[in-house]
Amino acid sequence: MNLVWITGGSSGIGFATAKKFLNNNWKVIISSRNNKKLLRAKNLILKTEDNKELYCYQCDISDRNQVIDVVEKITKNLGNIKLAILNAAAYSPNKSQGFVIENYNHLINVNLNGTLYCIESLIKRMSDNNGHIAIISSPVGYRGLPTAGAYGLTKAGLTNLAESLYFDLKKYNIKISLINPGFIESESTNLNSFKMPFLRSAEFAANKIFKGLTGAYKFEIYFPWFFLLILKIFRILPYKLYFYLIKKITKL
Ligand SMILES: NC(=O)c1ccc[n+]([C@@H]2O[C@H](COP(=O)([O-])OP(=O)(O)OC[C@H]3O[C@@H](n4cnc5c(N)ncnc54)[C@H](OP(=O)(O)O)[C@@H]3O)[C@@H](O)[C@H]2O)c1
Repeated sequence: MNLVWITGGSSGIGFATAKKFLNNNWKVIISSRNNKKLLRAKNLILKTEDNKELYCYQCDISDRNQVIDVVEKITKNLGNIKLAILNAAAYSPNKSQGFVIENYNHLINVNLNGTLYCIESLIKRMSDNNGHIAIISSPVGYRGLPTAGAYGLTKAGLTNLAESLYFDLKKYNIKISLINPGFIESESTNLNSFKMPFLRSAEFAANKIFKGLTGAYKFEIYFPWFFLLILKIFRILPYKLYFYLIKKITKL
């Protein structure tokens, strides 16, 4: 049975993705910081799924020692990780356009450093078994957006990192995928005060992620396709036109 590790599996996209993999006979590990939340997630999932191969590990990805320790424990107790979905992230909408350095530091610590620590430990463990790492980024990282400086820079960094690792991980026999979801219902997006276009459910995201990661290899998995197509066009507009349109749309 293949083994998947999903960081931030206690809620939102990670939780729905864990259910989807379990339902398709994978052995699933979910991790996050909050043990109570993790156990609640586990109980909720096991109520509906017949496959009971679901395991929880508490791990704050921004703590390098915790990540090293958890990857070691998983490998020792459950075997080699075939697929790692690096989904955990912090999110804090900055409604006021204020520059708060603590917010930048926090998001960089969790979203960038945390993901790097996971990759560091996975490379050591995966190179013998053709592993696959999927990084959940965001189209917010495609280009700078008002109020999204801190979150956006971490996601832009992750997208750039995945592109580099596409080349560099080949020598370790590890595949890398980049996942770019549009707006998905979750605890994080519940914090948004604006109307989110093309909002989809976490189950919709989980289906796309499962299909994208278990079918023929793809580097980028993105959804919903029409919204992402619009954002991809915005990505290549010249600055003058891009800034003009974003100002018009956001009124910021
Ligand atoms: N929802 C969207 O519209 C959307 C769009 C694009 C990209 N994304 C990305 O998709 C991923 C999942 O987002 P979501 O919306 O499903 O968020 P969510 O419901 O808020 O879930 C975030 C998960 O990350 C965990 N987490 C947070 N900080 C952590 C840390 N330091 N160490 C370990 N786990 C941590 C949380 O659990 P604990 O609190 O227990 O740690 C939780 O399980 C994120 O990478 C997000 O940036 C989301």
